Amino acid sequence: MMACMDSASAGSDPRARPIAVFDSGVGGLTVLHELLVRLPREDFVYLGDTARFPYGERSREELERFAAEIAEELLRRRAKLLVVACNSVASSALPSLSERMRQTTLGPDVLGVVRPEAMRAVAATRSGRIGLLATPTTVASGAYERVVATIDPHVTVHAVACPTLAAIIQAGQQFDEQAVATVRVVCEPLKSAGVDTVILGCTHYPLISSLLQRVLGPGVTLVSSGAALARQVEHALSTRELRNPRADGEGDYMFLCTGDVDAFREVGTRFLQMPLGTVERVQLAEVEVLA
Ligand code: DGL
Repeated sequence: MMACMDSASAGSDPRARPIAVFDSGVGGLTVLHELLVRLPREDFVYLGDTARFPYGERSREELERFAAEIAEELLRRRAKLLVVACNSVASSALPSLSERMRQTTLGPDVLGVVRPEAMRAVAATRSGRIGLLATPTTVASGAYERVVATIDPHVTVHAVACPTLAAIIQAGQQFDEQAVATVRVVCEPLKSAGVDTVILGCTHYPLISSLLQRVLGPGVTLVSSGAALARQVEHALSTRELRNPRADGEGDYMFLCTGDVDAFREVGTRFLQMPLGTVERVQLAEVEVLA
């Protein structure tokens, strides 16, 4: 089921190469989960930068550098498409990463979570008021507001930065009393603003979607990145003629992490909701950042 893919196994047919997905840690596995369900014939390689988790309060410059280093590793793995599962990176460092790949020979196209989520949210809202729960870095970037404005300038985004929520979920403490109190605090401004749609703008939040739904009320539509992005990846593969030619059966998937392998495996299963298999530790090489 899960094989160790290297450059040789991908062969010369670009369609047979893996889709690369990366994140600050295990959170992006909620996104990979959707991709595995939606695109069973594809091979995937996932990189979690667990040694440097969390990304949620890092600067744009830092995230641009981290994304460039990760992309370098994933290029070595001959990725045919680069998927940025991390909202903090996608909202702050996507333009620089895309530009870097454009300047790289055979650099793959880059897809991030912001646009597909924003499109879903705009399609879902009836009141024209969308809420966003995300890390401080994602909120400060203003990326969701910019994309929503290009889709429909009459729709407003009410963003709430949640500095502690991802770490609470990562630690498995999301149902503690204190965590529930935190959820109530971050939901309060969204309830006051009367939003009818809320973007879960962080990879970790799908794990507390039931709690959020209960606090926000059944009339609020929650939009998470996994399903929205999976649809866009499917579309991108078709339009670029990059769908894996495998006729039946499921593809392979494997994991790279920059931190402790056992910790990744332990927490990762909870996020992926599927068997984990091969996890390899990688040391990322430093790269020169584009001017
Ligand atoms: N993947 C990160 C994000 O979606 C999780 C939070 C973090 O690294 O701080 O922003």
